[in-house]
Amino acid sequence: MQHQQLPDHHPLEQQVELLKRRLAEAQKLTALGELVSTTTHEFNNVLMTIINYAKLGMRHRDAATRDKAFEKILSAGNRAAKITNTVLGLARNRAAGQEPTDLTKLVDDALMLLEREMNKYRIRVEKQFRPIPEAMVNGNQIQQVLLNLLINARQAMPNGGRLVIRLSHDQENDMIDLVVRDFGSGIPQEKLPHIFDAFYSTKDGPDASGKGGTGLGLSTCRDIIESHRGRVRVDSTVGKGTAFTLKLPPAKPIARTPSLGAPVGHPIAAPQSPTTSMS
Ligand SMILES: Nc1ncnc2c1ncn2[C@@H]1O[C@H](COP(=O)(O)OP(=O)(O)O)[C@@H](O)[C@H]1O
Ligand SMILES: [Mg+2]
Repeated sequence: MQHQQLPDHHPLEQQVELLKRRLAEAQKLTALGELVSTTTHEFNNVLMTIINYAKLGMRHRDAATRDKAFEKILSAGNRAAKITNTVLGLARNRAAGQEPTDLTKLVDDALMLLEREMNKYRIRVEKQFRPIPEAMVNGNQIQQVLLNLLINARQAMPNGGRLVIRLSHDQENDMIDLVVRDFGSGIPQEKLPHIFDAFYSTKDGPDASGKGGTGLGLSTCRDIIESHRGRVRVDSTVGKGTAFTLKLPPAKPIARTPSLGAPVGHPIAAPQSPTTSMS
């Protein structure tokens, strides 16, 4: 990262530009740090399984125990391969471009990366996947948004709970909806307008697994969704939980005849309180 110092007499616009670039760098580094933390913890867990079952197989020489040990080692090894493949995929596709993307697979990959973490914090993940068309997105960026939403949801339920993740096609607006809903603390109404601000956080700092506390997750989320001409919507009730809805464009928009209702991309009705929405 390069930090050129701009003297104060430089035009304001130039200083704003520089600060924007620095914010983008900070957002990227935060996301990368959380990804490294996630994958290292998950990987370590897989290694523990492999080591323990290898020890078991060496201690007990009977065929049944050894077969079981080999099975466990094999499935842990496969999981390790999936983790590294997903991370390698993320590292490979760093271009800014958007392409037709299977969001179902993207969500499954994110949940695979967070499997141990969700178990550890006793989060029950419930998938509600409807058939959806491909989305026109940058897979890496949406993955980054999703990981932050899932981790935020997990952190909102310190004693565990239910996390619903839903994929569906909003036919009326021809957008693909991705909903992450938790049944955690909720967000007080006076705080809702600030949650997308850069550096706004109510957390003390990173938690035991190295995540959260920078206040950069949702600001990154907003920037990424804006660059996709998508929308984010939040519905939250204190004590009940929070739902984030992402609306993303399909790869092949439905062709509409002008006489048949709204054209593609018409505005989405304003949500009702206690909700905040942005485009
Ligand atoms: N699912 C959620 N439930 C409750 N509060 C949330 C949730 N998601 C975000 N928030 C609030 O929004 C703030 C900003 O989130 P974010 O930008 O991801 O930063 P961070 O996670 O580093 O605090 C959080 O500190 C929290 O107060
Ligand atoms: Mg966060």
